[in-house]
Amino acid sequence: MKKVFIETYGCQMNEYDTELVKSILTQHDYGITPHEADADVVMLNTCSVRDNANRKIYNRVHEIRHGRTSPVLIGVLGCMATNFKTALLENKRLGIDFIAGPDSYKQLPTLISDVENFGEKQFDVTLSEFETYSDVSPNRSDSVNAWIAIMRGCNNFCTFCVVPYTRGRERSRSPENIVEEVKKLVADGFTQVSLLGQNVNSYRHEETDFTDLMRVVSDVPGVKRIRFTSPHPKDFPRKLLQLMAERDNICKQIHLPLQAGNTRVLDKMNRTYSKEEFLDLVTEIREIMPDVSLSTDIIVGFPTETDAEFEDTLDVVNQVRFDMAFMFKYSERPNTLAARRLKDDVPETEKTRRIVTLTDAQRLIFLEKNRALIGKTMTVLIEDSATKKSSTDVKGRTDCNRIVILPQGDYDKGDYVQVLITDATSSVLIGEKGLLSAS
Ligand code: SAH
Ligand code: SF4
Ligand code: F3S
Repeated sequence: MKKVFIETYGCQMNEYDTELVKSILTQHDYGITPHEADADVVMLNTCSVRDNANRKIYNRVHEIRHGRTSPVLIGVLGCMATNFKTALLENKRLGIDFIAGPDSYKQLPTLISDVENFGEKQFDVTLSEFETYSDVSPNRSDSVNAWIAIMRGCNNFCTFCVVPYTRGRERSRSPENIVEEVKKLVADGFTQVSLLGQNVNSYRHEETDFTDLMRVVSDVPGVKRIRFTSPHPKDFPRKLLQLMAERDNICKQIHLPLQAGNTRVLDKMNRTYSKEEFLDLVTEIREIMPDVSLSTDIIVGFPTETDAEFEDTLDVVNQVRFDMAFMFKYSERPNTLAARRLKDDVPETEKTRRIVTLTDAQRLIFLEKNRALIGKTMTVLIEDSATKKSSTDVKGRTDCNRIVILPQGDYDKGDYVQVLITDATSSVLIGEKGLLSAS
């Protein structure tokens, strides 16, 4: 039996896709190994969202190719495959044997055997309007959370973003198929599911929209925590807020990507909302769910962004006080609308200054918000029986997605435990088991 090792980069969608690939390969008599050195085939499931994501992969391929004494086939999957296509195979120095885009994973067994049988490099980077892998049951990793892709692709064409080009057009799975998967997950012992899509608000299958889907998933007995990512601020369904507030098993947590706080920059990004509309949406969300936890993505140094316009981003960050934020320097992606129309004209030193300013502001906010939770008792889902730093601590998450570290006790991975928060840093809460144990 040939053994395959897969390494995953990029977003949760790629994590999920790796689980699909493992399932497809094991059905075709391949074994999956957790050790690169044992593998006959090494696959990198790649991301192309920023330039440093690409460079990491080039280095990694080089390292694998030159670190091996035995023969190995190297395949590149994911967004770099559809972004760079056969140019990846033509680069002789890299020595990649096959590439497969996000809609071509069912072809992987054929691609691998064709490389072996014909000694020629193989590729399939076709994007599909229909492929949702709804007939593939992912080989899930050993986690308490199960990802479920409810849709694939993106039609939004934010001008900075390569994803619509690497993952193609939007398509949604049927609600029946998704609910069936959730029921199977519950039967397998999962209690938390996270619904995934590049823009979940666009989910639509016949008459079912995203709020309808959330309702039927929330109705499945045994599901204790439902998360979703990402919605787009331009068309966040207001009726979903009501449903979230009503249902105990929908986590009070929303990832709401801001990208920029200035309306002119937002317009240039094709985000189709203004600073004020974003702030109004946050107010509305908090009116309905006062304790909601909000996270975001922000890009600094988008072409033509002035210092004064960056101050608008800082202003939104200070007004909203996000619970978590992922911040990036603008990275020009070939072929995107921004790359074609606008010069990447914000100097690197200025991008660095802006990201440092934002990070400093955020760190203070995170610390204040986390410290405000000291003394509260929160329900924590135990994720790992030991943390990376200490074998005597365990790690879990609150409903609002905060990480909690607590001493090991009479609880196991997958348990829900009432935890008294005793301390906090800007990134984690520290706790101890409270008196009551949640069921
Ligand atoms: N579909 C998701 C985003 C996927 S990409 C959504 O809309 O929420 C994840 C994040 O990467 C984006 O939210 C954005 O903040 C960042 N990003 C995308 N393209 C980028 C680029 N060219 N340079 C820097 N950051 C980028
Ligand atoms: Fe990219 Fe915008 Fe689509 Fe998100 S919504 S994947 S940022 S184009
Ligand atoms: Fe995800 Fe990166 Fe592709 S963020 S969709 S793996 S470009």
